[in-house]
Amino acid sequence: MQKIIAANWKMYKDRSEAAQFAGELAEKLASKPAQGRLAIIFPPFTDIATASDGFAGISGLSIGGQNFYPEEQGAFTGEISLKMLRDAGASWALVGHSERRQIFGESDGLIARKTAFGLAHGFKIMLCIGETLAEREAGALEAVLDRQLESALNPLDAETRKGLPANLAIAYEPVWAIGTGKVAQSAEVLEAHAVVRTILGKVLGSDAKDVHILYGGSVKPGNAAELLALDNVDGLLVGGASLEAESFLKILEA
Ligand code: PGA
Repeated sequence: MQKIIAANWKMYKDRSEAAQFAGELAEKLASKPAQGRLAIIFPPFTDIATASDGFAGISGLSIGGQNFYPEEQGAFTGEISLKMLRDAGASWALVGHSERRQIFGESDGLIARKTAFGLAHGFKIMLCIGETLAEREAGALEAVLDRQLESALNPLDAETRKGLPANLAIAYEPVWAIGTGKVAQSAEVLEAHAVVRTILGKVLGSDAKDVHILYGGSVKPGNAAELLALDNVDGLLVGGASLEAESFLKILEA
């Protein structure tokens, strides 16, 4: 399976910073494409068109939105539609990131609506899941991952499910490892990814083996190769270390 290396820029970079990143990375990838890897960049909305222009002609690289609202259009002040994201150059969207769940109070119900709406509208969805430290310490890892995955995927209709292995990626991001510098131990990543694969099997049947499961949380150039070598780790979702082109490139080539 081709590994996916995704960059989540969060609320960083204005347009000139985004253009500079795209210029640097595009130059390196044009002369030496990353073998067998798909890069996905999730810039802030105002940078999507800039990034998309900057990466034009570079194969193996896609652009995504960090969020969207699951309606076609309408009176939803402050929100953005999939049509707008697509027009700017995005083909992927993040759903369920822990910062959306925790800071903005996104419920499993809203995340399920977004997942179904995005897939039905031809977007590729990266669904983020993960437990808090308190949940892990309470022995609730499996229960939390099961709830997050089943609530988002069980409602999907038969037509949508057909395209799932290609259109869905799961990002397992333990909340306690995001932006903390505290990467999960290999054994913890192995265990959690095996749990995710098993739950996917319950929900999606034989297609489950073809769904990418990415790890996220304090991924750096120095730990990327070790993480990518683990069973059921089909890619990485990178926050802080994706903000510099050179550091992201090292992870892409790890
Ligand atoms: P981090 O963020 O790499 O800075 O820990 C990962 C994420 O939030 O997706």
